[in-house]
Amino acid sequence: MSDSNLQSALSNPQNLGEMADADAVGTVGSPDCGDMVRMWLKYKDKDGKKVIDKASFQSFGCQTAIAVASLATELIRGKTKEEALLMSAEELSAPLGPLPPMKIHCGQMVEGALKAALEAEQGTSSAHMSAPSHIGPTLADSLNAAGKTAGKIKIVLQTS
Ligand code: FES
Repeated sequence: MSDSNLQSALSNPQNLGEMADADAVGTVGSPDCGDMVRMWLKYKDKDGKKVIDKASFQSFGCQTAIAVASLATELIRGKTKEEALLMSAEELSAPLGPLPPMKIHCGQMVEGALKAALEAEQGTSSAHMSAPSHIGPTLADSLNAAGKTAGKIKIVLQTS
C-alpha cells in the first residue's frame, strides 16, 4: 500500500458527508471489525444515459476504509449503474496500491456499500427519488431506523 497516496486521501478526503438530495443510499457493516460505511448516490442524465452525477460517504471505519471510500466516490462519477456495479474493491483502491491482507476487508466494505447503494435505487420510482427522511445523524441511528422501515436503504452484512 502506498503511504503517500493513503496520506493524501486521508488529509483531504473527497465527498465526505451526507447528501441531502441523494437518489439512493447503501450501508454496509463489516463483521470483521465492526466498522461501517454508508454511501449516497445522485444520478443525472447524460447523452440519454443515466450516470452517477456525484457520490458521498460517511465512514465509521479505519483510515483505509475512509481512503478507499474517498477514492471510490471520485472513480464512479460519470459511470452508469452497470459500469459501477462491475467495479471491484481492488479497482476502487487501486491508487493506494495493493492492500495488505489485514486491510482487504476495508476495501471490500466500501465495495459493498457502493453495491448496496446501486441496488437500493433499482426498482424505485422516480416519484420517490429523494433520500428517506428517517436517516438519523449517525450510522448507528440510521441502521436502527432502516431496520424498522422498508425503504430504499439496503443494509448488507458482509460475509467475507
Ligand atoms: Fe475494518 Fe478497516 S479495519 S474497515
